[in-house]
Amino acid sequence: MTHNMNKVQMLEFPQRGDERGHLVIVEGNKDIPFEIKRAFYIYGSDADVVRGQHANRKSEFVLINVAGTSKVKVKDGEGNEAIYCLNRPHTGIYLPTMVWKDMYDFSSDSVLLVLASTHYDPDEYIRDYDEFIKEIHSAT
Ligand code: TYD
Repeated sequence: MTHNMNKVQMLEFPQRGDERGHLVIVEGNKDIPFEIKRAFYIYGSDADVVRGQHANRKSEFVLINVAGTSKVKVKDGEGNEAIYCLNRPHTGIYLPTMVWKDMYDFSSDSVLLVLASTHYDPDEYIRDYDEFIKEIHSAT
């Protein structure tokens, strides 16, 4: 398995809930393996929608379903793929640069929080799968 696929991992965040309710903490460079430069969240996606469908040359991400559930499929461009279920507000998945990702199977109550290591730059997104394969192969 390639280097990039090995870096994909589920993260478990500290929980500080009490009788008043749940509290989950995510700190940059601590619980999240990078400095958080950007956060966005995805909700209201129908069950048959596939989002993502891109790789990133520079951005690392952590995805957390703070409500509801979804799945993410990760491909390394060399024939390896893995599917992760995001179904707990206190777990996330870390995605390194240069992996292809599809987010899908959104529950109707899904709120998918995404933390990113970069400010938005459309030029670092690879939205064409063949181009992704090409760049993976030229790097190895
Ligand atoms: P897109 O990358 O397609 O979303 P997803 O990764 O969830 O499939 O983004 C949808 C639109 O929003 C697209 O026009 C780019 C814009 N956008 C920003 O302006 N800033 C951002 O940080 C993100 C993630 C998207």
